[in-house]
Amino acid sequence: MRIMTISSRGRQSVILRLAALALCQAALAFAQAPSSASGYVGSNVCRTCHADIWLNFYKNPHYKSIASGKEAPERTGCEGCHGPGQAHVQAGGGRNTIPRAFSLLTPKQALETCLTCHSSDFGKVNIRRSDHTLNDVACNSCHSIHRSPVPKYLLAKRQSELCYTCHATVRAQFDMPSKHRVNEGFVQCSDCHNPHGAFAPVWRMSQRPRMVDQAAGNEEPCLKCHSDKRGPFVYEHPPVRIEGCETCHFPHGSTNTRLLRRPVVFTLCLQCHNGAGDFGTHNVGIPVASSSHNLLDPRYQRCTTCHVRIHGSNSDGFFLR
Ligand code: HEC
Ligand code: HEC
Ligand code: HEC
Ligand code: HEC
Ligand code: HEC
Ligand code: HEC
Ligand code: HEC
Ligand code: HEC
Ligand code: HEC
Ligand code: HEC
Repeated sequence: MRIMTISSRGRQSVILRLAALALCQAALAFAQAPSSASGYVGSNVCRTCHADIWLNFYKNPHYKSIASGKEAPERTGCEGCHGPGQAHVQAGGGRNTIPRAFSLLTPKQALETCLTCHSSDFGKVNIRRSDHTLNDVACNSCHSIHRSPVPKYLLAKRQSELCYTCHATVRAQFDMPSKHRVNEGFVQCSDCHNPHGAFAPVWRMSQRPRMVDQAAGNEEPCLKCHSDKRGPFVYEHPPVRIEGCETCHFPHGSTNTRLLRRPVVFTLCLQCHNGAGDFGTHNVGIPVASSSHNLLDPRYQRCTTCHVRIHGSNSDGFFLR
């Protein structure tokens, strides 16, 4: 080291100079601090003691408020989240001296802090009544402002790993033989779910929302990718739109092919096609297969070998082509 090679006098002067520098910085910090009644001192002051956080902060999207120089003090930089820092700086630190030390906040208080700015984001309009908020899973359970290991959205972990920390059972579903490749990284939980809460779905008569997001306003998210199932078809198969895809498919994974809920197709169809109800085009409820269908004949057991357009057809009311 260079400092070892200089004389003891030289070393002393280096130390003195360092000390002087530190004093100057502190003095500068206080000089910069507009010791106004509001108590905001500006983010530069925090740098002296929280250098680790400050040095990474330029990469944070919240740095924009400092860079622009246009925001009011209560919406700028560190103090935008932690509150006015004057008392904290004067006390030389401490958790109780800063208005919002997240280690002392309840999940509700943390949520309200973030929502002072994020309440107008469209994707978060349902946040207060989402399953997560109602169960005390707040913003900082999923987001890490200062130590995010991922390039986007300040997530505390890679997305699927983040969700699995609390939803361990779901991991196994995505390891089944038929599945969406979430564990492989091709599909993400947030392709189908909005972790900030979703609107009540328009399918399934608004039951069991499960935080399933809606695409294009009011469609199941599945149609973003499986757009060939969107229609509109001349001949709709009503459950596709009304009950929703998950009536026949497991969305995550299944031991059955095509993510089906039943191992054999006809048992799926007969759940409904058994004359149940008294609605529909013939007032006979959901029609039973006509007498031509001999279900003892194995040929008839794979219904979709003939009813190939099971999600809807533009040319045949029986979905045969
Ligand atoms: C003079 C040094 C000093 C300055 C300047 C300073 N801090 Fe601190 N701060 C500390 C110390 C020391 C702690 C540790 C308290 C503890 O852990 O008990 C601390 C703790 C905190 C915490 C609490 C974290 C938690 O949840 O436990 C926050 C938040 C914080 N500082 C923010 C700021 C902000 C924002 C600024 C600028 C306005 C700032 N600090 C300026 C010394 C300082
Ligand atoms: C967008 C809101 C937000 C901004 C802006 C912000 N913080 Fe934080 N800070 C948090 C949250 C939330 C935590 C709790 C730990 C976590 O979730 O990462 C935290 C934790 C801390 C801690 C203590 C715990 C730790 O992780 O070391 C300190 C010190 C701190 N912040 C200082 C600062 C300083 C200095 C700045 C400005 C450079 C700043 N914060 C800007 C939200 C913010
Ligand atoms: C259950 C975990 C979870 C909670 C709780 C959570 N988030 Fe998120 N957040 C995510 C995930 C995952 C993404 C990434 C979404 C994507 O990839 O499209 C995200 C994205 C975001 C984004 C950027 C994209 C967008 O939708 O605008 C913002 C901003 C955000 N979250 C803010 C918040 C705030 C503020 C809170 C608390 C009020 C919060 N989040 C609570 C998981 C969560
Ligand atoms: C002072 C206002 C303010 C507060 C408070 C605030 N944010 Fe932000 N947040 C912003 C702004 C501004 C952006 C940048 C939006 C942009 O990129 O245009 C942002 C962006 C984000 C993003 C998106 C990151 C990305 O990669 O696109 C996330 C996630 C986020 N904030 C989470 C939080 C969380 C969690 C809290 C509470 C701990 C919080 N914010 C508190 C103003 C705020
Ligand atoms: C800190 C723990 C935690 C994290 C992280 C978390 N969740 Fe949750 N999640 C919960 C709790 C608690 C509930 C409500 C209780 C329940 O229904 O299991 C819930 C509920 C849900 C529900 C509704 C379940 C239902 O039965 O209606 C979905 C969907 C969901 N979470 C998806 C996600 C996704 C996607 C992520 C990752 C972006 C995630 N969660 C991250 C704790 C967490
Ligand atoms: C292909 C779309 C899709 C993806 C990707 C997806 N989900 Fe789901 N998830 C759904 C649908 C649709 C439901 C509702 C199923 C129902 O109600 O029968 C659901 C239900 C849930 C539930 C509540 C029911 C249960 O099985 O416990 C949780 C929790 C959940 N998902 C978590 C996750 C997590 C965590 C991820 C990522 C690792 C994820 N989901 C990825 C579509 C998806
Ligand atoms: C982000 C795009 C995306 C979304 C959203 C999506 N899927 Fe998929 N889906 C795929 C891809 C890609 C495949 C191809 C499977 C593979 O090889 O990984 C697939 C395959 C399937 C399969 C056939 C599986 C097989 O074994 O051949 C079914 C059934 C399916 N998805 C249903 C759904 C349902 C139901 C939803 C909504 C709950 C949905 N998908 C949402 C991308 C998506
Ligand atoms: C009435 C039950 C039913 C409903 C509702 C349903 N499906 Fe299917 N789906 C099936 C059956 C049965 C198969 C298997 C067809 C085969 O084996 O040839 C299938 C196959 C698939 C496949 C793989 C083969 C292909 O055609 O691409 C995808 C993808 C798919 N469905 C997506 C969806 C989506 C997205 C929805 C909601 C918009 C949906 N399904 C609703 C019964 C249904
Ligand atoms: C969730 C209930 C449900 C399931 C499961 C279901 N269907 Fe349907 N299906 C209906 C309803 C409702 C109609 C419309 C009846 C009407 O218009 O009167 C219908 C109509 C049909 C029609 C046209 C009948 C006509 O007379 O117009 C055919 C063919 C058909 N389904 C075949 C199948 C096959 C094959 C399967 C299994 C892959 C299946 N359905 C699974 C509810 C279901
Ligand atoms: C060998 C081809 C074939 C197979 C396999 C098949 N169907 Fe059909 N299905 C038809 C034809 C052709 C029609 C239209 C003429 C008729 O009613 O016989 C039809 C008509 C129907 C109708 C409408 C009846 C009505 O009167 O409105 C329903 C419902 C139906 N099938 C359900 C099923 C179910 C459920 C299965 C599986 C158990 C199945 N089909 C298997 C060829 C088939």
